Formats: sequence, structure tokens, C-alpha cells
Amino acid sequence: MKITIAGTGYVGLVTGVCLADVGHTITCFDIDERKIQELNGGKSPIYEPGLEDLITKNLEAKRLHFTSEPEQAYADADCIFIAVGTPENEDGSANLSYVEQAAIMISEYIHKDTVIVVKSTVPVGTNERIARIIKERVDPSINIEVASNPEFLREGSAIHDTFNGDRIVIGTESQETAQLLRSIYEPLNIPIVTTDIRSAEMIKYASNAFLATKISFINEIANLCEKTGANIEEVAEGMGYDKRIGNQFLRAGIGYGGSCFPKDTKALNYLAKQYDFDFRILESVINVNKYQKDKLFLKAKELFQDFTGKKVTVLGLAFKPNTDDIREAPSIDIIESLLKENAQITVFDPIAMGNVEELFHDKINYANSALEAIQEADMVFIVTEWREIKELTLAQYKESMAQPVIFDGRNCYPLHEAKELGIQYYSIGRKPVE
Ligand code: UDX
Repeated sequence: MKITIAGTGYVGLVTGVCLADVGHTITCFDIDERKIQELNGGKSPIYEPGLEDLITKNLEAKRLHFTSEPEQAYADADCIFIAVGTPENEDGSANLSYVEQAAIMISEYIHKDTVIVVKSTVPVGTNERIARIIKERVDPSINIEVASNPEFLREGSAIHDTFNGDRIVIGTESQETAQLLRSIYEPLNIPIVTTDIRSAEMIKYASNAFLATKISFINEIANLCEKTGANIEEVAEGMGYDKRIGNQFLRAGIGYGGSCFPKDTKALNYLAKQYDFDFRILESVINVNKYQKDKLFLKAKELFQDFTGKKVTVLGLAFKPNTDDIREAPSIDIIESLLKENAQITVFDPIAMGNVEELFHDKINYANSALEAIQEADMVFIVTEWREIKELTLAQYKESMAQPVIFDGRNCYPLHEAKELGIQYYSIGRKPVE
């Protein structure tokens, strides 16, 4: 069977490489020739632990191919996965232009029965639209089946998640298509849920919205802990033992970021509005997250009032550890707020610094290590819980900073240590140390 993946972004590339690794012959297509050239040389355009090794291994085994020639990618494919981006439009809706362009291009090259699998995160009803776009354009004697097959992988552990996912969702109206997809995924040995197309599309949004809800919920409990004197770490631990609640996604922090939760919650809310449905919980989840991202800056503003000439360090720029992705990262909001206040900003991130430099150029300073970044600082914001950042000891902050004031958005340190060292320490959902 010849399988093609359209789009070599996060989802497409990881899916293609992992499916090749379990023995399938995979062609990954992208219109970006430079990207394809890099990939053919074994170089990944995204930072993802373990990905380059798997690319090289499967290129050498000749199971994995990269091309920017649509003819080569689509003409004899039995099954084509669409895995292009669906970024956010200004009004919060999902931008479907890349998905549609991919469908139009595919329709120009296929000349035999083909299964089209939509992996991109798309609003309910989009698979049907894709089917229409392709069917309108191909010879009517060709049978086109469309299936929705959303992905649930996390950046930074995308390969692990692909091989060890909790479930695979296949939405299709055709038994044969379901069987074909089952056979593709069979080597992964992961439970498969088969649904109708619209339900599969909804499962993706509902799952991300639920996880985002869990985060905003625990962040609100944290905010209430701060008022009442409870400790969110202890509260979350005590809640997490209840199997119905589960201990994952209960880490209070500086709000969720990244390429999925912010955009998917807004897209689902937009979809609800289109159906005249007031999705009150989701609306609150989005608003809580907006507040949570600003929270530490607002605390600092309350304490310092004037930032002019203050040396401020931001530790961690990626939206979470093990990725260079800065999309919707709280660090960006904090840097922008600090720049407006004329602060002198120094930042450090083990991987994402280049991406931030493209945004802020010489408006901020870039340090080579976490320790270098905090030298002579008047205050430090801890935004991403990288190992390289958590390894700094509170004693090092005390020794290095001009005055030890820390705003910790990831609860990296025990309160008693900050107290013992005389550090002013503000974290999330815990008593301030002043
Ligand atoms: C997420 C989903 O987990 C994945 O299933 C989906 O396919 C894509 O979106 P990702 O965005 O890569 O994956 O990262 P994830 O690890 O889920 O974290 C998302 C955000 O939530 C991060 O900003 C993280 O810091 C935050 N988070 C996560 C918390 O604040 N607390 C938690 O307990 C967990």
C-alpha cells in the first residue's frame, strides 16, 4: 500500500516517520522545497527529541521518502493523509485554506480510487466539505472515501505519544475505509475507536477543550488557594488520587499556550456560536487563561510600579519544555508588557531563543545560560520549567541577583527554601514569601 502524507509540520512529519518506522512505505509531501531538501538530508525542520534519528533510520531503510513533486506524492497513492495546519483566523475560527488547497492539489493528481484521511484539526463538517471539493474535480468513476483521523500527540513527546497513544480515532461512514485504516495502525497496538465522521471531528476539539478546562480549573483553584492560604501543590496531589479526576493536567501555572489549546478552544467556541449555542464553560476557560498569563506581570507591577531601568530576566521562552515552539507562549506576553514599561530585559531558553530573537531582535538581551541570565537582575520571571532552569538553586539566585525577587509561574522551588534564604518569592497558588 502506498501512503502519502500531505504536510510536513508537526503532525504530518511525526505521523509519517512513525508509520514508516513500523514498516509502511511513506511519502511525505510539502510544497516547501527547502524543507524537503533538509528532510532528505536527514534534518528535521522542527525540534522534537528523537525525530532526526528516526528520519535517518527510515530514509536509509528506503521506507520513507520526501518530495515536493505532487505527481510523485499523489498519483498512485492508495491513502493520503492531509496533515496541514489550521491556524487561527482573527475572529477565532479555524483557517481552512491550507486544508482546502491541499484537497484541490490532490484532486489534480489522483486517478484511481483513493482514501483521503483528514488528520488536521478541523471543525465539524469539514471532512464532508473536503470530500465535495475532491469529488467535484475528479473523474466520477473514481471512488473517493474520506475519513477523519484526529491526532492527540504532544509536542516534545510526539514520537512517544504516537507509539503509545491512548486511542486512535477513526471517523468514517465506510466499513472498508475503517478496515484499511485499522490495518495501517495495527502495528501500533493501540485501542481503536470507530465513529461517524462528525463525531470524530468533535472528539478532537472536545478532548483539547476538556484538557484546557482542567488546566483553567486548577488555575482558578490556585488563585483561590492564594486568597485562602491553602497550597495548590498539596490540593492537586490530594485531588489527583481520585481515579475519576486523575493526577494529570492538574499542574497550576501561568496558563496554557502552544499551537493547540489556545486555537482549538477558540475554534470550538466559534463553532458553538455558529450554531447559536452559548458555550459558557468554554468561554470561561478561555478568559481564565487570558488572566493567568498576565498574572505574574500584574503582581510585579503592583510591587515595583516603575520598571524603568530595572534589570528583568525571563527564564524559559518556549510554551513548555522540550520544544522550541513559542506560539501563544506566556513568555511573549510578559516580554511585551515589560518592554512597554521600559524594563531592561534579558532572556534565556535552551532551545527557543532563535525564535524569540526573530520577534524582538535587539530590543532584549540573550544570555547563554540560565545562570548568566540572572546576574545582577532586579527580578526574575520563571516561565518554562526546563530542566536547565530548574537546576539553578535558590542559593544561586541569592548570590547572583542584585535583589532576589522571583516570580515563578511553574512552582519550581519549595517555599521554605526561599524563606530560609530571604528571597522574595511569588509562585502560583501558594503563599507569597516576602
Ligand atoms: C496538546 C494536547 O496535549 C495534545 O493531545 C494535542 O494533540 C495538542 O495539544 P501540546 O500543546 O503539545 O499538546 O502540549 P501539552 O503538554 O498538552 O501542554 C499544553 C499547555 O498546557 C502547555 O502550555 C502546558 O504548560 C500547559 N499545562 C499542561 C499546564 O499548564 N498544566 C498542566 O497540568 C498540563
